[in-house]
Amino acid sequence: MNLEPPDRNTFNPARNGAHSQKTNGALHFPKGFLWGTAVSATQVEGHVTNEWTDFVAPDGKHCRRACDHYHRYREDIDWMRKLGVNAYRVGIEWSRLQSGPNQPLDPVQLAHYREVLACLRAAGITPMVVLHHFSNPLWVCRSGGWTNPQTVSAFENYVSQLVPALRDRVRIWNTFNEPDTYASCSYLLGEFPPFQKGRLSSFRAVIDHMAIAHRRACELIRQAGSELGPVEVGFSKNWTFFEPLRPWFPWDWFMARSTDRLFNRWVMDTFLRDGRNDAATFQGLNYYGRVRFLHGQSLVPARGRSRHSLAKLGVHCDDMFERHPEGLETVLHELRRRPALPVYITEHGSACDDESFRIADLQSNLKMLHRAIDRGADVRGFFYWSLLDNFEWQFGYTKKFGLLSVDFDHPQLPRRMKPLAEIFRLACTENRVPLHGK
Ligand code: BGC
Repeated sequence: MNLEPPDRNTFNPARNGAHSQKTNGALHFPKGFLWGTAVSATQVEGHVTNEWTDFVAPDGKHCRRACDHYHRYREDIDWMRKLGVNAYRVGIEWSRLQSGPNQPLDPVQLAHYREVLACLRAAGITPMVVLHHFSNPLWVCRSGGWTNPQTVSAFENYVSQLVPALRDRVRIWNTFNEPDTYASCSYLLGEFPPFQKGRLSSFRAVIDHMAIAHRRACELIRQAGSELGPVEVGFSKNWTFFEPLRPWFPWDWFMARSTDRLFNRWVMDTFLRDGRNDAATFQGLNYYGRVRFLHGQSLVPARGRSRHSLAKLGVHCDDMFERHPEGLETVLHELRRRPALPVYITEHGSACDDESFRIADLQSNLKMLHRAIDRGADVRGFFYWSLLDNFEWQFGYTKKFGLLSVDFDHPQLPRRMKPLAEIFRLACTENRVPLHGK
């Protein structure tokens, strides 16, 4: 098939002179930069019927109502307007749209998503639509999920119907969110449905099949185009730095190196195989931080260590991961080499009740992002994870990433802006970040 080469030159700040700048005590981002927030359907919508519906997290909670974003999307778009974002990374839930392989899309559900997208447009917010974010229709799960090669054609059929139906509403598509997180949590760690452990061959099969499906989806999306302008498409790779706490300790060095090889290098190689990454027009990057190893154990609070005990070891964490802002510049440099596509930071955020911690963390990461752009990285947008506190998969509602809190005990699920939202709002509305602050 003859595809147009991706348009890599239209917005390269280093090339077109629209460089990021440092003036008046602030770091200015390139003109046209997208500032957004991100969510996924299962984590916020509620009322989904997929493999997560019956899951009950250790906090005793489930995703059956979540933030009720499915009904409250207008209110949430109003909040986004208040935040001043010009973009929103949002999922469309496959299980709502197709009742079986090759079935026509459900017209009522399609109309729902068309309405959500129309409201975003009316609010001046550009959607980036995610096709797969850790959930599947039950009929896909019953036939082996992504370990089954037939899921590739089922997904292809879905995309071939969905994309043309939304070409007047969507210009930027995100095929897969963090394939390695999905495959490892589902088949190596046993934390996501179907809760299998140590199945390396299933992990590899999932990545292989998703990589093929990603390329096919890219082709379909670029063939369909968009009425709104040049279509953009890419998948989102979660980049975690894996390092030994003490570089001289062989076992930890081995753990870090093999984890990095499997989750970062091998997954990227599989997705970018045969130089066919040209099917994509951008690379999505989800960046949270670093995982270090001590005596073979990962040093993260999410694995049952307290933040306090980790801090004593010099490991500076939020409720989930070690923070490592310098790594953002490093990975952006790496991505310039390969795949050498423009980048969107499709997720960055921190989970913690301490807002001053989160504010400092955001500021440090945005400074590193600005520095990377200054040094030539072609980054076109930044999406904060997440708009709302939400259903954090295996952790239920205990990890709070929201710019807005949600009172889950109240029948109306009221939202409220947190202090971090005000800092983020300034970046979104002024396209700059003050130099003071950590
Ligand atoms: C995922 C989100 C998740 C976030 C925080 C990413 O891995 O895409 O669904 O909520 O990280 O853990």
